[in-house]
Amino acid sequence: MATIRLGDVAPDFTAETSQGSLNFYDYLGDGWGILFSHPADFTPVCTTELGTAAKFKAEFDKRNVKMMALSVDGAASHHEWIKDINETQNTVVNFPIIADEDRKVSDLYDMIHPNADDTLTVRSVFIIGPDKRVKLILTYPASTGRNFYELLRVIDSLQLTAHHKVATPANWKNGEKVVVSPSIPTDEAKEIFTKGVEEIKPYLRMTPDPTT
Ligand code: BEZ
Repeated sequence: MATIRLGDVAPDFTAETSQGSLNFYDYLGDGWGILFSHPADFTPVCTTELGTAAKFKAEFDKRNVKMMALSVDGAASHHEWIKDINETQNTVVNFPIIADEDRKVSDLYDMIHPNADDTLTVRSVFIIGPDKRVKLILTYPASTGRNFYELLRVIDSLQLTAHHKVATPANWKNGEKVVVSPSIPTDEAKEIFTKGVEEIKPYLRMTPDPTT
């Protein structure tokens, strides 16, 4: 198992899921993907996370992002757990959960951190671009549920900065001012960003979101 780093090609796999056998690349198609792991079925934090993910699916769809979750229990267990998630979180789980009983995908993506837990996966997140390269890696401990607003925010930033020569500042939210890429001289930036460039320092130039 090699360490996966930003910019690496996301490893492909075929796995049993709550929606049958799926090939990851086929499932993603030409769009973006998010793969996230859960320590185990029938655990409280994971139940809230998967319910939240289901409620956010429309937002991920809008951004052309397909979700795939993973837990190291089997498909039969996932089906029973999904009933509980739907009931307790008042939603319908509407994306596949990998049944990673043999830890094949967990190992491929280094989701088991033995010094945290020998057998359960940590809460990993991988965001994968249409070029199948890894754009973001997050690792949370089992005790901390993830923030799905943050995942959407990162996807907004990744999709904006993939197409425009900008970066997004701390706590940026969609529609707010962005940073001009350091590689662009200010004269050139003023030609590219017709809504204006504010030069706070030669290396810190702000411009309105070019897409709004
Ligand atoms: C949970 O999802 O609630 C959880 C799982 C493993 C350890 C602690 C919490």
